[in-house]
Amino acid sequence: MNALAATSRNFRQAARLLGLDSKLEKSLLIPFREIKVECTIPKDDGTLASFVGFRVQHDNARGPMKGGIRYHPEVDPDEVNALAQLMTWKTAVAAVPYGGAKGGIGCSPDELSRSELERLTRVFTQKIHDLIGTHTDIPAPDMGTNAQTMAWIFDEYSKFHGHSPAVVTGKPIDLGGSLGRDAATGRGVMYATEALLAEYGKSISGSTFVIQGFGNVGSWAAQLIHEKGGKVIALGDVTGSIRNKAGVDIPALMKHRNEGGHMKDFHGAEVIDSSELLVHECDVLIPCALGGVLSRENAPDVKAKFIIEAANHPTDPEADEILTKKGVIVLPDIYANSGGVIVSYFEWVQNIQGFMWDEEKVNMELHKYMNSAFQHLKAMCKTHDCNLRMGAFTLGVNRVARATLLRGWEA
Ligand SMILES: NC(=O)c1ccc[n+]([C@@H]2O[C@H](COP(=O)([O-])OP(=O)(O)OC[C@H]3O[C@@H](n4cnc5c(N)ncnc54)[C@H](O)[C@@H]3O)[C@@H](O)[C@H]2O)c1
Repeated sequence: MNALAATSRNFRQAARLLGLDSKLEKSLLIPFREIKVECTIPKDDGTLASFVGFRVQHDNARGPMKGGIRYHPEVDPDEVNALAQLMTWKTAVAAVPYGGAKGGIGCSPDELSRSELERLTRVFTQKIHDLIGTHTDIPAPDMGTNAQTMAWIFDEYSKFHGHSPAVVTGKPIDLGGSLGRDAATGRGVMYATEALLAEYGKSISGSTFVIQGFGNVGSWAAQLIHEKGGKVIALGDVTGSIRNKAGVDIPALMKHRNEGGHMKDFHGAEVIDSSELLVHECDVLIPCALGGVLSRENAPDVKAKFIIEAANHPTDPEADEILTKKGVIVLPDIYANSGGVIVSYFEWVQNIQGFMWDEEKVNMELHKYMNSAFQHLKAMCKTHDCNLRMGAFTLGVNRVARATLLRGWEA
């Protein structure tokens, strides 16, 4: 089942639990606006190249729409649509005053030079500048884009609308980015893990962890879990997987990776087959790489007691059912990886205030938002007698439904 089908299925299940009437249910699913633009740029060799850019603005009942822009050859409108919808529920779960959006350009960023990427980003911004804005729709980085991409969007947008740093988040610190944004998703994953384990009388210290993915999210999550006394016993990335039952030395692995080393060449752990990683013995499994990695094929063999979905959509619905039957507790992505969007919100607030927070304040506020969302999510599980995924969906959908009704927008 693809991301759109799975998201829509979860939404419909939540709508039923909440007893939403069918008209409201339908109006919550229909995107506010779908934008498709042709972006033609001169390449460095003087030839012209054309790329298709998308922006789906799903819902703005709770505030300006928010979501990433990805540069990827397989950006497809259905997936962008699903991810925009997911952002609507995610911002509502986190209780940040935003709706949901997502965008992308069908291109291979690795095959474009820096100046071609800059021209493409500026042309895309010229085509959509009237439809995004500080109080309308605020893009952020996603796959294939980064702080530099946001800097170009901010600059191009400001040519039309005046100095507007709050039009994008995930900017470089020198242009109004927030301290703590780089670590935010991984830090949020650590706070979410701490909150979940506490429910079961456990803590990070004394628990064992397996982490798939050692990029932005995975490496921060691993470092922070290691600092809290958790034992990360196996890790994997696209270059291979490793194990050390006594606990991998995460700072040493970071150093190895930062020097360009591959996972499988790290001394201080044994190499394992990557197919063993997700089914490795551990207390907590944290997928931080791709979507759909837990499927009906490997779910029956999962040995973890808890799964923290740091990646987007790592668990197929079929795997979800199998894991639930096995008694594995799954903390869903729309809560577990919301640290990034929460600190993006702090960046936007700082830009509007014209006042920069120190990192300690950013982390303290992130902790408050993650804890508060967890308490509200748990309360929904109790009210609707449902699992954590449905607790998160009912929490998010209910907040958006209430805002829609209060604004008198029901169909
Ligand atoms: N970065 C954020 O703020 C953020 C926020 C919310 C959700 N997410 C989600 O978290 C996940 C990771 O994002 P990221 O920003 O860390 O990306 P990243 O590109 O920095 O890292 C991705 C990691 O996954 C690994 N990987 C890729 N293919 C793999 C494979 N076949 N097997 C094992 N490992 C593989 C890569 O080697 C890398 O270590 C994605 O699903 C993303 O959508 C990220």
